[in-house]
Amino acid sequence: MNGSIFYFTGTGNSLAAAEELASLLDISEIIPMAGALQNGEPACNKEVAGFVFPLYYWGLPEIVERFLAEFNLEKCSYIFAIVTRGGSKGKVFDDMEKILSEKNTSLNAGFYLTMPGNYIPMYDVGSEEKQRQQLEKASNKLHKIAEMILEGRDEVDPEGVFLKAMSSIIHSRWKQKVHRKDVLFSLKQNCTSCELCSRVCPVDNIRMVNGRPVWLHHCQECLACIHACPVEAIQFGKKTEDRRRYHHPDVSWEKITEQKKPI
Ligand SMILES: Cc1cc2nc3c(=O)[nH]c(=O)nc-3n(C[C@H](O)[C@H](O)[C@H](O)COP(=O)(O)O)c2cc1C
Repeated sequence: MNGSIFYFTGTGNSLAAAEELASLLDISEIIPMAGALQNGEPACNKEVAGFVFPLYYWGLPEIVERFLAEFNLEKCSYIFAIVTRGGSKGKVFDDMEKILSEKNTSLNAGFYLTMPGNYIPMYDVGSEEKQRQQLEKASNKLHKIAEMILEGRDEVDPEGVFLKAMSSIIHSRWKQKVHRKDVLFSLKQNCTSCELCSRVCPVDNIRMVNGRPVWLHHCQECLACIHACPVEAIQFGKKTEDRRRYHHPDVSWEKITEQKKPI
């Protein structure tokens, strides 16, 4: 298929889904949004453009919203989106439609894909067995999604009126605060100054000062830093101390560090 897939990820779910879908659709171009944003106006030069990213507070990640607003889609005739999530829905496709309609285009296909939830400030990640089951189900669903995309179907998962109204409130409150939510990160004494947190941050929001990470208040709250820390020195709020860390089993932290390289 003559297409490109654009992704954003914190803990690898969306990258793994983007890669699996690319392979099913025979698409060779998988482009990180964080890297593409650093190079002027991002554009799609293919007939098909796909976007794969996580659900954040029932809506679009701030960086994805910005990417879509700046993205030149003139050459695309079919647009799809896959939203990886822990379990809830939101108003992603509604917001995407608004952005795309300003570019005189629209979303052809959009699907929510349940994968292991990574939001450890609120809940613990599931057991490895539960994760394995969720990832197997996600893979089965991706096969079905790929068939629909290959058929060129127009189909978007419904987001009900009540859900959209609730999401509007929750997501807009979150978006107003997200860049400064990094004030909730704290560091334990066992930090080894390995710098992985800084390297894995997709938006370069962490600078190492005297061997310790300092958050710079343009956070996306992707939580890559807290999940990547090999000694669990990073905490977020008050409840993460005893909670497990997560990243997609097929996506290494080294690979996640690459998404911010300028394209
Ligand atoms: C800031 C933040 C907010 C989240 N909000 C939701 C949500 O509203 N609903 C949901 O089902 N999952 C939510 N999640 C879980 C992620 O969407 C889910 O784990 C996703 O697959 C992570 O993708 P990634 O590994 O590509 O970063 C949230 C995660 C983060 C970090």
